Amino acid sequence: MYLFIVEKRRLQANDLAALEKLEKRVMGETGIDSYTLQPLAVHGRIFTLESHAGKRIGPADGRIAGKFEVPQPLERKIGLSPECRILGAAEFIPSFSEKGLAHLFGFYVDDFLRGTGAAGTLLLCAERTIAQNCDVTRIDLTVSRDNGRAVAFYEKHGYSRTSYKRDYYGRGRHRLIMEKELRAELPPPEIAAKALKTRSLRNGRVKKQPGEKPR
Ligand SMILES: CC(C)(COP(=O)(O)OP(=O)(O)OC[C@H]1O[C@@H](n2cnc3c(N)ncnc32)[C@H](O)[C@@H]1OP(=O)(O)O)[C@@H](O)C(=O)NCCC(=O)NCCS
Repeated sequence: MYLFIVEKRRLQANDLAALEKLEKRVMGETGIDSYTLQPLAVHGRIFTLESHAGKRIGPADGRIAGKFEVPQPLERKIGLSPECRILGAAEFIPSFSEKGLAHLFGFYVDDFLRGTGAAGTLLLCAERTIAQNCDVTRIDLTVSRDNGRAVAFYEKHGYSRTSYKRDYYGRGRHRLIMEKELRAELPPPEIAAKALKTRSLRNGRVKKQPGEKPR
């Protein structure tokens, strides 16, 4: 079985249905639907993390931004379905206020992939692709300070806390702003995939996620 990071420029009906379902389950009240997902794919960029039984994906699926074979312990968790399954997403909006800036609007992986390194691989492949193909030099994002796992994840991947915005998404919905400068020497997808293999073999287990107000 193979995991692909796929750059979507337009979402097919089956992808929209799968992503809507995953958004609702993983992101809860901040999950988005097809009416936001499609413009994000067409005018911004969406990268999906997908499992496929074979080594190839169809042309309608999108452009491959990263690909690697799933190590055994992880394959057992994913299950042996021959069909494509969407297991995570990275969603970017381009900025009109600053050239080279992109906003990471949404980012998540399915519960059983947490702690395996899959999220890190998805992020690195997406960052690398938008740096090379869309001239993005800086990424910013918002995250709830209570979401300790996500904050630690972003820090591990080079994001710094830059400010704290009170009531950013409405009364009581404060958010931490984090940013990362993208360097030309971002590691290639093969190195990211190797990181996934080592971690999943070492950990081989699911780490539980509190999963509160993520976006
Ligand atoms: C955020 C997310 C993508 C990160 O992926 P992940 O596979 O869980 O991340 P990792 O395990 O690689 O890294 C998380 C790190 O935080 C640590 N951690 C876990 N819980 C923590 C907590 N409460 N406080 C601080 N650190 C914590 C982990 O130990 C790990 O560090 P380590 O690699 O040094 O052991 C994933 O958890 C997810 O999809 N969460 C739900 C959606 C979400 O919150 N998205 C972010 C929206 S802004």
